[in-house]
Amino acid sequence: MTRFAVVYYSSTGSVHALAEAYAAGAEEAGAEVRLRRAAELVPREIIEANEAWKEHLEATVHIPTAEVEDLIWADGFALGTPTRFGQPAAQLKQFLDSSSSAWSAGHLAGKPASGFTSAHERHGGHESTLLALYHTFCHWGSLIVPTGYENYDVAHAAGGNPYGVSSVGGDGAPGQPVLDHARCQGHRLAVLARTVQAARAEAA
Ligand SMILES: Cc1cc2nc3c(=O)[nH]c(=O)nc-3n(C[C@H](O)[C@H](O)[C@H](O)COP(=O)(O)O)c2cc1C
Repeated sequence: MTRFAVVYYSSTGSVHALAEAYAAGAEEAGAEVRLRRAAELVPREIIEANEAWKEHLEATVHIPTAEVEDLIWADGFALGTPTRFGQPAAQLKQFLDSSSSAWSAGHLAGKPASGFTSAHERHGGHESTLLALYHTFCHWGSLIVPTGYENYDVAHAAGGNPYGVSSVGGDGAPGQPVLDHARCQGHRLAVLARTVQAARAEAA
């Protein structure tokens, strides 16, 4: 069975909702899915002072925190982060920065991978965040799978971002078109992961 990991960070739920949609799409494609959240780094008292952040953390505490082993295990993966000044959040970056042993052993190379994000503003840095995430994918040797326009109607309805799935707003509730795009991309990635896995097995 194809193994697929969805690793994300979310403070207030928007990226979490996208991550769930990715996981659902990959499961529909027949993959075994690990949904994992990057560990929180912010001191508890700061989170306590922000009702939306506190509520979201409490609501998702049952989701296991991400380990690099989840990416080693997976045949393909999707990584999600809110936009933070046009870049990935420190919490996801910390997860990326813990991957050096797996990277140097070649465990992350050759796997289909895509990024997703959420930003408050329509032009608030979605694409720069995704491209910054893809820098790491290049170093890992991932097979970067942008959303493109292969499923044009779905992509267009979601805002037409060809770099990766992205939602606008910070209220924890991406609209249905963006959730559909995430589900579609999760399905597509899982199929690609299965195809690559099968081709490798045949070539070996
Ligand atoms: C420190 C910080 C920096 C942010 N930078 C941006 C930004 O550059 N552009 C933007 O549109 N939104 C920015 N935002 C807003 C979040 O990206 C946005 O609310 C996002 O949808 C939150 O996702 P979440 O609900 O999964 O936490 C920022 C928020 C914080 C706390």
